[in-house]
Amino acid sequence: MPQLPTVAIIGAGSSGIAAAKALHERDIPFDCFEASDRIGGNWVFDNNNGMSAAYRDLHINTSRERMAFSDFPMPASCPDFPHHTEIAAYFEAYVERFGFRERIRFETAIARADLRDDTGWQLTDEHGVMRDYDMLLVSNGHHWDARWPEPAFEGSDAFEGLQLHAHDYRDNAFLEGKDVVVLGMGNSAMDLAVESSYVARTTQLAARRGAWIVPKYLFGRPSDTFTPSRHVPVAIGAKAFETLLRIYTGPPERYGLQKPDHPISGSHPTISGRILDCIAHGTITPRPNIERLGSDWVQFTDGTRVHADVVIYCTGYRISFPFFEDGFLAAPGNHIELFLRIFPARHPSLAFVGLLQPIGAIMPLAEAQGRLLADYLRGHYRLPSRARMLAGVRREDAAVRKRYVASQRHTIQVDFDRYLHDLERELRRGAQRARRAGFASALPARVAGVAGAGGAAGAGGERPPVAAP
Ligand SMILES: Cc1cc2nc3c(=O)[nH]c(=O)nc-3n(C[C@H](O)[C@H](O)[C@H](O)COP(=O)(O)OP(=O)(O)OC[C@H]3O[C@@H](n4cnc5c(N)ncnc54)[C@H](O)[C@@H]3O)c2cc1C
Ligand SMILES: NC(=O)c1ccc[n+]([C@@H]2O[C@H](COP(=O)([O-])OP(=O)(O)OC[C@H]3O[C@@H](n4cnc5c(N)ncnc54)[C@H](OP(=O)(O)O)[C@@H]3O)[C@@H](O)[C@H]2O)c1
Repeated sequence: MPQLPTVAIIGAGSSGIAAAKALHERDIPFDCFEASDRIGGNWVFDNNNGMSAAYRDLHINTSRERMAFSDFPMPASCPDFPHHTEIAAYFEAYVERFGFRERIRFETAIARADLRDDTGWQLTDEHGVMRDYDMLLVSNGHHWDARWPEPAFEGSDAFEGLQLHAHDYRDNAFLEGKDVVVLGMGNSAMDLAVESSYVARTTQLAARRGAWIVPKYLFGRPSDTFTPSRHVPVAIGAKAFETLLRIYTGPPERYGLQKPDHPISGSHPTISGRILDCIAHGTITPRPNIERLGSDWVQFTDGTRVHADVVIYCTGYRISFPFFEDGFLAAPGNHIELFLRIFPARHPSLAFVGLLQPIGAIMPLAEAQGRLLADYLRGHYRLPSRARMLAGVRREDAAVRKRYVASQRHTIQVDFDRYLHDLERELRRGAQRARRAGFASALPARVAGVAGAGGAAGAGGERPPVAAP
């Protein structure tokens, strides 16, 4: 049996643990590095990694049925849309159940990840300890690096009230009696405008374009379970869903919201069971985009001006990899070219897990990516040629650009069922290529420093700190 490649995983959020479980089950030697003192990433409220966007009253907006890993259902006691504490507990239970907690190194943020051509990866952690691996899996999350409006609105530096990004919002206590402006039409804007409306004097919901608002339930079922078969063309499925929505809630304009300038399939779903009620109650007022700010006011693009104490920017996130050397690999404007949304064609010893934005939940997709990566590392899945990978990337990119509103929030979109299907098909194709290649791993396994799965020293050869990172 040839030596298996050694693997480092960055991050023990839901994506990192999905990959870790797949590797653990296949006895592939790995270490998973986690900045926090616990698993769960975004779902740990007040996470000591400072990266979680969870607020006190956050509930998932993809139903538990969609979100659960395929072989580990959420407890029957959980509601359809559990609270963040239940989601974090579920991820903890997953790691316990499959028994790989000892493979996770907590409070060990990776400060640098350097690709050495001849020896694979050299990782340097926050304590200055260096370790070497053959393969790097990145699952550092893509909802922690706050994206503020660029360029900033005129007068935002003169505004004397409080401006914050949704990432820093924890609960609504500080909004009591205030005049609040919330900007955006994504899911953060929906939740935060609703939370504000319960305690604020006024809440304005400003947006640069309209959105289709999908309630959490349709006809008594979680709305994300209404997905057309992947055999139905996207445009037809979308038209049917749009019609259903129009019958159920009426058009967004009926509530004073902007008319969406795109079909429902052209944007990431905006899901809220409460926003339309709040607008109907007059506790949230829809507005067009912010034009400029003054010392204590906000003016919108239709010329109306309101008094404001607080502005909350729910303007999304940047995809960032702070541990890579400048110029190695980045995602400018959130664009990143990955084959299957996993592999950069130029670097076969690097892969990403969970770096996608599904219509549906991320977790089962990260789980499927983990399975494919385990096959890859064992030599049972072989990548196509670089030219074929690049052609696949270009096709996928063109399809996303054609279908979605041009926005930094839509660069890594996938359809849940289609993506799972495409991954399965590619796994079969890659298995044929692997058979032809005699099941040899594409990665050279280093001989030195490999402790093997379960080895106390970890999978990567460890060297003590030599200098501050
Ligand atoms: C408010 C909010 C609500 C959401 N609701 C849903 C939902 O209902 N359904 C859904 O499917 N998705 C939802 N999402 C999307 C969210 O991205 C996923 O739910 C999920 O958190 C993705 O998991 P992840 O592991 O990829 O990333 P994260 O949960 O962000 O985890 C990343 C992990 O990597 C660690 N890490 C990062 N950098 C380093 C480093 N350098 N070294 C070591 N460790 C590192 C972090 O500490 C963290 O633990 C929501 C996002 C937000 C912001
Ligand atoms: N309850 C939940 O489960 C929950 C809650 C919150 C968030 N989430 C998830 O977290 C992720 C991030 O959501 P998000 O809402 O924070 O971000 P998002 O989906 O990226 O939405 C950002 C919003 O801000 C707008 N915007 C961006 N820049 C702007 C600018 N300069 N001026 C005016 N408007 C601007 C965007 O408009 P354009 O469309 O025009 O770009 C969009 O409406 C998503 O996956 C979401 O589903 C889930």
